[in-house]
Amino acid sequence: MNAYTPLLHLHSTLRYAVLLLLVIAIVKALMGWLGRKPFTKADDKIGVILLALAHTQLLLGIALYFISPYIQSILENKEMAEIMKDAGMRFWVMEHAVGMIIAIVCITLGRILSKRATNSIFKHRKAAIWFSVALAIIIYMIPWAERGFFAGGN
Ligand code: HEM
Repeated sequence: MNAYTPLLHLHSTLRYAVLLLLVIAIVKALMGWLGRKPFTKADDKIGVILLALAHTQLLLGIALYFISPYIQSILENKEMAEIMKDAGMRFWVMEHAVGMIIAIVCITLGRILSKRATNSIFKHRKAAIWFSVALAIIIYMIPWAERGFFAGGN
């Protein structure tokens, strides 16, 4: 059985879980930072789940990249210069993958730096800043229908 379609559906659906958790993590971190609240076990748990989800998306995305018939056919048949001139091909071959990897690095950094910080305010601040940068990149790099970049090249 071809894994492409189920993996694509899973990757597509998981976006909502990542977005929801990111928003919750950012709101909690901002409230903790500005309200000078202690960094709780619940804050820690949200960070762990967010990191796990983001890394799952990363693995799914890498797998999809190598099995996507659309991406593979572009890579086999087109020159890099030609790919870069076409907004649709450039988005799928480069922008989505690179942008999302950078966003997931930001989530990972937010988690690591927040864990290493020595007091609650710094913990909340690191999380709030890095997770917000990640959220902005992810929202921009999601192929929302309005942008016309449909998976599978349709
Ligand atoms: C938080 C991170 C990510 C989110 C929210 C996300 C979201 C999405 C969405 C919504 C789609 C379209 C699915 C559909 O229309 O059915 C998609 C497709 C895809 N994504 Fe991601 N993605 C993420 C990370 C990544 C990463 C890191 C990579 C690669 C390294 C990647 C590679 C792909 C590929 C190859 C496709 C399918 C392209 C095709 O066959 O046409 N994604 N992604």
